[in-house]
Amino acid sequence: MNGYNNPLIGVPAKALPKHIGIIGAGTIGPDIAYYLKSAIPDLSLVLIDIVEDQLEQALKRIEGYADKGVKRGKLTADQAAGVMQNLATSTDYSMLAECDWVIEAATENLDLKHKIFAQVESIVREDTLITSNTSSIPAAWLFSKLKRQDRCTVTHFFAPAFSNPVVEVIDWDGGSGENLEYLRWLFCATGKVPMVTTDDVCFMLDRIFDNWCNEAAYLIAEASAGEIDSVALDYVHAGPFDVLNFANGNEIIPEVNTLQADEEGEHYRPAPYFRSVKTWNTVPRGKPIEVAPETAQGIRDRLLGIVFSQSVDIVDRSIGTSADLELGCRLAFAFKKGPLKLMRELGKEEVSRILQRLEKERPGMPLPNQDVADYQDFLQYLLIDDVDGIKVITIRRPEALNALDDELNDEILSVIKQYEDDPQVKGFVITGYGNRAFCAGADIGRFPEYLGDAEGAAQYARDSSRLLRHIDGMTKPVVAAVNGMALGGGLELAFRCHSIVAIDNAWLQLPEITLGIVPGIGGMVVPYRRWPEAGQTFHEMLRSGKKLDAQAARKLGIIDELAEDYADLIRRAVEKVDSLQGSVMKIADESVTVPSFDPITSDGQRLSSKVVGIIENAITEAALSPSLEEALEIGYRAFGKSACTAAAKEGIESFQQRRQPDFAKTG
Ligand code: COA
Repeated sequence: MNGYNNPLIGVPAKALPKHIGIIGAGTIGPDIAYYLKSAIPDLSLVLIDIVEDQLEQALKRIEGYADKGVKRGKLTADQAAGVMQNLATSTDYSMLAECDWVIEAATENLDLKHKIFAQVESIVREDTLITSNTSSIPAAWLFSKLKRQDRCTVTHFFAPAFSNPVVEVIDWDGGSGENLEYLRWLFCATGKVPMVTTDDVCFMLDRIFDNWCNEAAYLIAEASAGEIDSVALDYVHAGPFDVLNFANGNEIIPEVNTLQADEEGEHYRPAPYFRSVKTWNTVPRGKPIEVAPETAQGIRDRLLGIVFSQSVDIVDRSIGTSADLELGCRLAFAFKKGPLKLMRELGKEEVSRILQRLEKERPGMPLPNQDVADYQDFLQYLLIDDVDGIKVITIRRPEALNALDDELNDEILSVIKQYEDDPQVKGFVITGYGNRAFCAGADIGRFPEYLGDAEGAAQYARDSSRLLRHIDGMTKPVVAAVNGMALGGGLELAFRCHSIVAIDNAWLQLPEITLGIVPGIGGMVVPYRRWPEAGQTFHEMLRSGKKLDAQAARKLGIIDELAEDYADLIRRAVEKVDSLQGSVMKIADESVTVPSFDPITSDGQRLSSKVVGIIENAITEAALSPSLEEALEIGYRAFGKSACTAAAKEGIESFQQRRQPDFAKTG
């Protein structure tokens, strides 16, 4: 890989495709089609299959997805209609002639794929990209017979391909670096999370998943499918047999494991049970059963053993990056935590015990090449790039719209500390991964534990401010490159950066009041000291959760520059760091005057009057305070106070239950 770790930093070699062809209307082809049609406006797409009936079914499925998208508020009616426009089906390959990109999503059979690619190559233009959705067959095998191999690679989607963000993009000897970079950009720009892997059989993530399922099937000799799934729920949201039933995986696992066995050794052979079982008799989701402790321990050790063995092998052989491995397992397979993080939490001794047991029970499976502790040496949530001597820190936590948790905050702080004294580094840019969010705030998942605990909540706010307090004291510039929504704690982070540049469709919001809480890490303090003339706007944002779009924030001077796209955003942010050399602003220590509070306009949404009161008091008190430190402390304590209100309980619960809060009953 030659480009930046954040795929959107570079200027793309070409625009998004206008014509795409997908071959195979079976399981995943229509799902890929729906993703592309909903992500790329005005795209014309043709779905090819040899079976007419399959094509008709595929169209119905896509229409069903679009209808559901409207019902769930993810698509407008117009967007849904747009999905069905310029969407053709055909049994005739000549329909692919004008395509910019052809994706093969046919059966996993090498001979068949060779025939398909030969036909595709004879029809498409010289510059058409050709990719395969195979989950396991190396690109070098697939494209070996083609004349122009450089435009080909594997783009491996995960089910369901329209909502699962992960796509593996294979970096292989015959493929061109330019196409690889283009595909990474294209996927990231359309809401996916591309992960580059080497061209080994099964690439990266299916090494984990297929071997985990295969091992579960081997364990059937010792326990029932229900018992095995129940034990696995310790670290995944769905057990292996549940997933196999859901994804019709019984055919694919033996094929893939046979491939891995032929290439890498007999220990990968598929378990015999796959041949005789159609559906596994497991437990209903969410209803695990009791398992005898010794049996449970055996299952747990073997399943975790396989996952750890495959993970260390992936890292040792550099099949993919550690951060992608972690994120991929969380996003693609519903792991509660990435395998390397699980290893860290279990500790060196326990991991070594599990792997020693695996070595005895499953000889041949890979073992660590380095000390177990050394596998923790990576950043989980950040991508770091160097652009003209400036460190661009990209927050990548797509499953929570880049929301900040403690580890993420600590990672940003550690990167800043690592480079701030380095004379080669001029400063920092902080941005968010993808086109949607800079950062959706602090992780709401942490809030329930502080409900009713004023001291604990205030301390949590203090602790979460470590990064921000560090930025306050810095002399090297830190610029926020706001690439989409900046909410709550994410906006409070941007407020602390020495300058904010934003993409022109970005928006800012302090939605805490809609959760029955207050912004506790400077949101009620810093804006008034930095942009006192915008006090009335901050009042509205804080007291009613009103959004502020980037254009309006630019007019108020909160945002220093607007950019038209992501690459332009990073370029401007980098230039801003350059221009701020030696002239970093400091947030005023002196007290400030704030406007009086007008009646609230809350667009009809009922808010908690009690929490509004806490906000107004905190703003007033903090503004009078003659030191920033003291003013911030008022904010931490106000956060603690809000955590003890009935409104906070209702607000946080309603977010987690995906319903509107009812503050009428809380006051
Ligand atoms: N903390 C934790 N998770 C968050 C989050 C946050 N601050 N913001 C979003 N997420 C998660 C959602 O729970 C969801 O996870 P799921 O897919 O496991 O359910 C995922 O990110 C995507 O968000 P979703 O709500 O499905 O997207 P949407 O487009 O419907 O709505 C928002 C986007 C930003 C309007 C909505 O997510 C939201 O209101 N988030 C909370 C913002 C907030 O109040 N931040 C301040 C906290 S200090």
